[in-house]
Amino acid sequence: MTAISPPSAAPHRHLLGIAGLSLPDIHALMSLAEREIAVSLGRDKKKAALKGRTQINLFFEASTRTQASFELAGKRLGADVMNMSVANSSVKKGETLIDTAMTLNAMRPDILVVRHHAAGAVALLAQKVGCSVVNAGDGAHEHPTQALLDALTIHRRKGRVARLTVAICGDVLHSRVARSNILLLNALGADVRVVAPSTLLPNGIEQMGVRVFHDMDRGLEGADVVMMLRLQRERMEGSFVPSVREYFRLFGLDAQRLSRAEPDALVMHPGPMNRGVEIASEVADGPQSVIEEQVEMGVAVRMAVMEWMMGNEETAS
Ligand code: NCD
Repeated sequence: MTAISPPSAAPHRHLLGIAGLSLPDIHALMSLAEREIAVSLGRDKKKAALKGRTQINLFFEASTRTQASFELAGKRLGADVMNMSVANSSVKKGETLIDTAMTLNAMRPDILVVRHHAAGAVALLAQKVGCSVVNAGDGAHEHPTQALLDALTIHRRKGRVARLTVAICGDVLHSRVARSNILLLNALGADVRVVAPSTLLPNGIEQMGVRVFHDMDRGLEGADVVMMLRLQRERMEGSFVPSVREYFRLFGLDAQRLSRAEPDALVMHPGPMNRGVEIASEVADGPQSVIEEQVEMGVAVRMAVMEWMMGNEETAS
């Protein structure tokens, strides 16, 4: 199959990772997202910015909130949205990915939103298709819209991101959320820490410009934002933690431990949460939690990303 050329009118932009964004891009996306928040709050939740556009959500990995968020974002912009969940085939994954993408590409979508279990798969796909591609999570590599929605949530609550101390805690090794957040928070001038057992940290993580802590109490000291990560047991081969109970005792966030952070520290989690594994319910549902607000910001950020990709920023307000 040969690649189909993009429709000439569309600026053919992708969002494959935070790594590919310039600072002006980041600021443009964040301020557009800020304006999109109002759309979801109104009685009429529909804009015409993507009217006539076709968006396909192609998910090779299970997802509830991210897929729902992208679907609603597309619909609120007026796009026609189709969801495709592709069951994981254990054989010939590369072929399956490209074949599926090319088949969908031939139907001439404008936007493909792709989640895949292999790092780099979404970038590979973007080279083959003739439409804009959004990375909705590729393996342990990047999840740019999650980082953007996290930054938007922090910015709304704290009035800034620069100079805040953000502690990213838990399974950093398997987390695309952590990687995208480290890149984005550093770009925005935050002071980023990671707090985890050494078995759950990638080698050389310091080179990403973070301070490393192996002790939760010390890592949370003075933090303005505590970002918890899910223990991604489905990505673990072998044993990374002694037991779930031991993990919670050493690295779980409960009220007592949270008191080490600033009194007005925000508690964040990208979801899905493992209550009692990395986070206690008293904290997840407590007054410092902004976990639901993260979900709300997710729709606004995804609307902003897709509108930006289609070059309709000027119609955003
Ligand atoms: C995250 C993901 O899929 O990377 N979740 C999400 O996007 N809602 C984090 C996770 O799975 O733990």
